[in-house]
Amino acid sequence: MSSPSELIFFVNGKKVVQKNADPEEVLLGFLRRKAGLTGTKYGCGGGGCGACTVMVSRYNHSQEKVVHFTVNACLQPIVTLHGAAVVTVEGVGSTKTKLHPVQERIAKAHGSQCGFCTPGMVMSMYTLLRNKPQPNMEDIREALGGNLCRCTGYRPIIDGFKTFCGSETSGCCQNGGGGGGKCCMENGTNGSKTNSSEESDISQELFPVDDFLPLDPSQDLIFPPELMIMEKKLSRDALYFQGQRVNCVAPSELSHLLELKAEHPSAPLIVGNTSIGPKMLLKGVHHPLVVYAGRIPELRAVTWGKNGLTIGAACSLSTLKEEVEKAVVKMEEERTRGYRVILQTLQCLAGKQIRNMATIGGNLLSANPKYDLSSALAALDCSLHVISADGMRSVPLNEKLFTDFGKTALRPNEVLLSIDIPFSKPWEFVAGYRQAQRREFAFSFVNAGMKVAIREGTNIVESLNIYYGGVGSTLVKPRLTCQQLIGRSWVEDLLTEACRLLKEDVDVSPSIHGGRAEYRKSLAISFFFKFYMQVVLEMTERGVSDTDLPLEYLSALKPFKNEVPQGQQSYQLVSVAQPSSDPVGRPSMHQSAFQQATGEAKYYDDLPPVEGELFIFMVTSTRAHAKIINIDPSEALKMPGVVTFVSAGDVPGANRRLWFNNPEELFIEEEVLCVGQIICAVVAESREQARRAAQKVQVTYQDLQPVFFTIEDAIKHKSYFEPKRKVERGDVDEALKTAEHILEDEIYMGGQEHFYMETQGLIAVPKGENEEMDLFVSTQHAAFTQELVGMALGIDSNKITCHVKRLGGGFGGKVMKIAALSAITAVAAHKTGRAVRCCLERGDDMLITSGRHPFLGKYKVGYNNDGTIVAADVIYYSNGGCTLDESAFIMDKAVLHMDNGYKIPNLRGRGVVCKTYLPSYTAFRGFGGPQGLTVIESVLHEVAVRCGLPPEKVREINMYREEQCYTHYKQPFCPTDMVRCWDECLERANYQDRLQAIQVFNSSNRWKKRGIAAVPQKFGVGFSKGFYNQGAALVNIFKDGSVLVTHGGTEMGQGINTKAIQIASRVLKVPMSSIFIKETCTGNVPNAAPSAASFGTDAVGMAVKDACEKLMRRLQPLMEKNPQNTWKQWVSDAFFQKISLSATGFFMGPPTDVDWEKGEGQAYYYFTFGACCSEVEIDCLTGDHKNIRTDIVMDVGRSINPALDIGQVEGGFVQGVGLYTIEELQFSPDGVLMTRGPSQYKVPALCDVPAQLNVHLLADAENPYAIYLSKGIGEPPVFFGSTIFFAIKAAIAAARKERGLGDTFPLSSPATAEKIRMACQDQFTKMVRGLQAMSNTGSVFLNKVTSEKPCLAVKVHPC
Ligand SMILES: Cc1cc2nc3c(=O)[nH]c(=O)nc-3n(C[C@H](O)[C@H](O)[C@H](O)COP(=O)(O)OP(=O)(O)OC[C@H]3O[C@@H](n4cnc5c(N)ncnc54)[C@H](O)[C@@H]3O)c2cc1C
Ligand code: FES
Ligand code: FES
Repeated sequence: MSSPSELIFFVNGKKVVQKNADPEEVLLGFLRRKAGLTGTKYGCGGGGCGACTVMVSRYNHSQEKVVHFTVNACLQPIVTLHGAAVVTVEGVGSTKTKLHPVQERIAKAHGSQCGFCTPGMVMSMYTLLRNKPQPNMEDIREALGGNLCRCTGYRPIIDGFKTFCGSETSGCCQNGGGGGGKCCMENGTNGSKTNSSEESDISQELFPVDDFLPLDPSQDLIFPPELMIMEKKLSRDALYFQGQRVNCVAPSELSHLLELKAEHPSAPLIVGNTSIGPKMLLKGVHHPLVVYAGRIPELRAVTWGKNGLTIGAACSLSTLKEEVEKAVVKMEEERTRGYRVILQTLQCLAGKQIRNMATIGGNLLSANPKYDLSSALAALDCSLHVISADGMRSVPLNEKLFTDFGKTALRPNEVLLSIDIPFSKPWEFVAGYRQAQRREFAFSFVNAGMKVAIREGTNIVESLNIYYGGVGSTLVKPRLTCQQLIGRSWVEDLLTEACRLLKEDVDVSPSIHGGRAEYRKSLAISFFFKFYMQVVLEMTERGVSDTDLPLEYLSALKPFKNEVPQGQQSYQLVSVAQPSSDPVGRPSMHQSAFQQATGEAKYYDDLPPVEGELFIFMVTSTRAHAKIINIDPSEALKMPGVVTFVSAGDVPGANRRLWFNNPEELFIEEEVLCVGQIICAVVAESREQARRAAQKVQVTYQDLQPVFFTIEDAIKHKSYFEPKRKVERGDVDEALKTAEHILEDEIYMGGQEHFYMETQGLIAVPKGENEEMDLFVSTQHAAFTQELVGMALGIDSNKITCHVKRLGGGFGGKVMKIAALSAITAVAAHKTGRAVRCCLERGDDMLITSGRHPFLGKYKVGYNNDGTIVAADVIYYSNGGCTLDESAFIMDKAVLHMDNGYKIPNLRGRGVVCKTYLPSYTAFRGFGGPQGLTVIESVLHEVAVRCGLPPEKVREINMYREEQCYTHYKQPFCPTDMVRCWDECLERANYQDRLQAIQVFNSSNRWKKRGIAAVPQKFGVGFSKGFYNQGAALVNIFKDGSVLVTHGGTEMGQGINTKAIQIASRVLKVPMSSIFIKETCTGNVPNAAPSAASFGTDAVGMAVKDACEKLMRRLQPLMEKNPQNTWKQWVSDAFFQKISLSATGFFMGPPTDVDWEKGEGQAYYYFTFGACCSEVEIDCLTGDHKNIRTDIVMDVGRSINPALDIGQVEGGFVQGVGLYTIEELQFSPDGVLMTRGPSQYKVPALCDVPAQLNVHLLADAENPYAIYLSKGIGEPPVFFGSTIFFAIKAAIAAARKERGLGDTFPLSSPATAEKIRMACQDQFTKMVRGLQAMSNTGSVFLNKVTSEKPCLAVKVHPC
């Protein structure tokens, strides 16, 4: 290896010269740790979340222009950046100089809640504007497709960004006419009030656009001229980089590359690093030498010839997309059919950032059957040009190229030079298909490319290509099928025969990686069915097909269109009498939105290193139930940089504590109870050293029995936590005897991972005196963290201070587990006497901290023909995992919410928490409420189906109606506002008309079905353990008049600080700009309750109000004496008159409690009400679904801040959409969590938001119990995601009914694509399951809907 080269690149206009660049160092680490640019965030480290998005610019010498593109900094090795200019969020704009309009608009449009995704969003949009200053909506959709946000529900981000679209390019609106919504461009414009007189105090304006900064390109950093000169010089020198473990050579000449390949055949080529990178970074795969092939011009060449496109293997997928897009626009349709298929494939393949980095060569040669291009390109008869020092050869792209998973037939010394993608020929018909867990930005379960050549002027098959990815370990061509159909006519018999052959030919092993064998096989056949119809359609257009394709079949050919979500939001304006200076009730922007949008907002891991700081990495159990025989850290301790190792023996205080009589340990000492429990930890100088060393710790186990993971098995083993719960109203057993019908059934609801964008962590800093310790920690419950750290260290709480600036999302996941992590980290800091930083990687976070409890609801319900439910008996079982955590309280909430909005006169709920050998489940937004509510809504749904009544009628018949009602645990409440929400929701949703339209749609579409569902909601706010219902605050006024508020809540995106400032502003009558909240600190406000239970603002708001009122009482005499004075003068007078300008505030919430012996009590402070209605469309052949429209009416009382409350409603709802549809946790048979990152676990992306999402805050609603008549709102909206679930169920029922199947069938949550597809039973699923599928005539068109219906006569574009 030659001596190391100098690496030169620019970051935000500043030159970076690295003399010893490490090939293992990625840009994200460099920016955050070396350049001090912490605006770029770590969310997953694998390209799956977009939090680390930055813009890279390069000078393209041949095109003589600078190109800008986004990349995921977490996958971009710095050594690949030679000659590039990087712009991070800090380089775009700042609060100190000038905000960039992108930053300003996302902030002002309320598109930043916790703010952790915001810099990534800003960079994606900024890069788009650099390339296209007037984008259209589709551009924005594409640009943001690779950025996840867990808080906002995306709509406000889009609202902010769409202001960059000129009105003619906005793509508008999809909304002006249908369903009563107003034009999208009016949201957030001056649009404001509605016209109707009775709604004159209703506003739709969440932010004004008048004062937006204009887009000013002169603000943008210019591309460094030095780099342009460098590039023009076209240096042909190879670059050499030498790291401690990995070397990299970056040749610039093909011949050199081939020499290197000949010399080091096992050294992988990297270009985009999106396939190799995650393996090296996340899976510990080690390559001592890598060869960067991105500088070789021949590998980047793009040539159009008479046969088609020849594209260099190192061209990015974005380049491929641009090229084929150009061809599709310019050339005749017949020749570009194949290119259309590629385009369609690329549109759903990963996100924009990955497509910018990933190369076509890498995609193919990774030989991963989940990757989409191989099947599509193989079907198109592409060929590869491969080259080595021995010469060049052409290799057909077909199944023979792929020899096994990750392996190809290329020789070790060969390099892929380019790929030929031919034009389509006149009588060739082609298509590509994919189905994934999420429609975009997700690996496919199965992908397929298909091409048939038909003899000109006939319907005879000349050749047939079918390729599948995802049905085996490599690309699969069903050879028999392809051969045997040659010479046959493309008619229904061929379809029947093809399906029969495919069934044999596509052999999906039950042990296939990722499972779902039956589903995959059914997809393979269903895709062919689609292809068959598509070809019939096209042949019909050419007049060579006489196959009758029923019109109702055609919608199967239309893929769902991804749209940018639009919608309408409305709220009641404050009274005209309210002074304009009073911000309460107005849609104020999140207090730190500008800081979040500029990357200036600091999260715990953004704090600069403390002198001598160490890093800790946890060692977790790999067995589900085992005795620990030995822990051997000796190998780890020998590793470079390792300072120490900590385990139970190092805990100076208590390693073990009792939590409601159940033991919880920090470090497991003797017996592990799940995979993922923390056994010990390694402390090292750097995080990489700690990570590597942790892998070397040897733990010897002796496996123990029993081991089980499911609720069913726990029931068999009678493995439960105490206490069990029971609540009963009326006499259920007697009433069941009187009911006209009895239904016994069950519903299962899976768990959910929090997937807050910021993983859990902290910095523990020993102060070196009196055993004091400061913790900078991402917790929702600072007081509990402080307490646990104190217990672990054996130190009084008064010496431990927890500081919480903000959280990058919490959702309940940062209440309990973070306290244990903090205690462990504090032990390490205590032992070493040095600051220790803990920052969980995404996979470990998901493994260790767990999430929402899975629930099984078994019920027996008695009902009458008219849908009245006379009695219901429900047993809730939750999977608590291996320790109690908050499971018992969560079960309480589920049981207490089981009545929802229904007056079921005889109702019994029992709750049992199952103890299993899985990681301990914990609190999650809704805290058992969604599970409790879902079971009862399922009961209502099933009763309606069995009675043959519309579900909304059954809901209405059973709804609480009287002015004064009582819950099943005898808490009085008034349901009027719930009923108002329900009525308004159905009306705004235009429910009845749409129900009819859906029926028409369903009767005229065989393979696509729609469903609609609505639910009401009554959700208890506050803690049912009354002692938690308290809030405290400290308000200090400084001599200059500025005000510092501190309170016990934590800011995690919900806007608690903003609301606290609004409240303080109202009481003190000073502008919000004079009030500041710095952090939450246990030293300022002690013993605070967690920010949870939707009670944060109630508790904190009241406490802030109390403190401010105390101060005002002190200032009042001065104000009265000198009314003409200013605030500053009054404050100054007070100081000189020795009046204290500091006050604490306290709120003693209500004494809620439940007497579980009697099963009654005042469980909640009050109820938040709402109603939601959703419509979906499913693809019966693939299980894909599209969320068409959702309408929510929510009662938040008198909203303190409508923008924040609507943000909570939308964000919570979209999180619920994930819970009920796509978020699926998977465990191996040994209890290992398999879904440990965004690649395997899909939270909603932009494509999952209903195309139309309307949110209305109920007008004229007041809540006398909470601050300024408002209501808590954080948790309730999650449950509204269930409307999507029930709408899907209705759509499946429509499909089943048509096939002569019963419309009662089991469907567990989440309703994934697999479950939807397999529930829509048809001839294909039957075939796969080995059931009799063919009709007597052998036709696969079983159950033709109506043979008398018209068949294909018109030209239909199948997209
Ligand atoms: C978050 C995420 C989401 C994704 N989603 C999808 C998706 O939905 N669908 C999909 O199809 N793919 C998806 N991918 C995969 C992505 O398309 C591939 O990782 C990418 O195309 C690989 O290209 P690369 O340049 O990054 O390869 P690298 O990681 O740089 O290299 C990959 C492999 O290819 C070999 N190689 C590369 N070029 C050559 C060459 N010219 N000659 C010989 N060998 C070569 C390398 O040696 C290496 O083994 C996703 C990836 C990520 C990270
Ligand atoms: S951190 Fe890079 S994409 Fe998630
Ligand atoms: S604001 Fe998007 S993740 Fe929190």
